[in-house]
Amino acid sequence: MTSPDEFWTPRLWRRHRRDWSPDGVTLVAEVGGTVVGNLGVERGRRPRERHLCEFGVSVSRAYRDQGVGRAMLEVLETWAKDAGVEKIMLRVFDSNARARALYEKMGYFSEGVERRAVKFPDEYIDAIRMAKFVAGPGVSNDPTSESRRSRA
Ligand SMILES: CC(C)(COP(=O)(O)OP(=O)(O)OC[C@H]1O[C@@H](n2cnc3c(N)ncnc32)[C@H](O)[C@@H]1OP(=O)(O)O)[C@@H](O)C(=O)NCCC(=O)NCCS
Repeated sequence: MTSPDEFWTPRLWRRHRRDWSPDGVTLVAEVGGTVVGNLGVERGRRPRERHLCEFGVSVSRAYRDQGVGRAMLEVLETWAKDAGVEKIMLRVFDSNARARALYEKMGYFSEGVERRAVKFPDEYIDAIRMAKFVAGPGVSNDPTSESRRSRA
């Protein structure tokens, strides 16, 4: 989960960016040579979690609501399919209406609530876990149709 005041400096970027690889990737969105958005995704490391990945995304305030986030999420799905990842996961503050709306429009569904996931000086905020299947059995994104244990 990213707060608006948590954007990285170029130096942090260079240190943490990850090239397109089966383990993850760092995407940046550029406008005229300026980085206006970023998305980092990491694949599960344990053999039984290699079908999973989790990402975080943020877009500079001045460039929001212009499709930058959606564009990066589309590339994320290309990466996931390319890497053989089946399920894309994320956490989002329940108060983050824009992000939740975008994820829902792109087919992500809620998997549960983490109550009091973060603590600010004067409030707690719950987090919603969301996910989308991009490959695997049935590739259904309707959680009600999923059995507790799906056959691989
Ligand atoms: C969330 C975020 C990454 C989305 O990026 P973005 O470039 O603004 O997203 P897009 O422009 O592609 O899409 C935003 C969509 O939400 C809609 N939207 C905006 N505010 C909304 C609101 N309050 N309620 C419902 N929908 C809203 C927009 O209309 C747009 O939908 P559309 O494409 O159908 O018009 C970006 O806003 C951001 O960085 N926010 C701060 C950090 C953050 O919240 N990161 C995600 C943490 S999980």
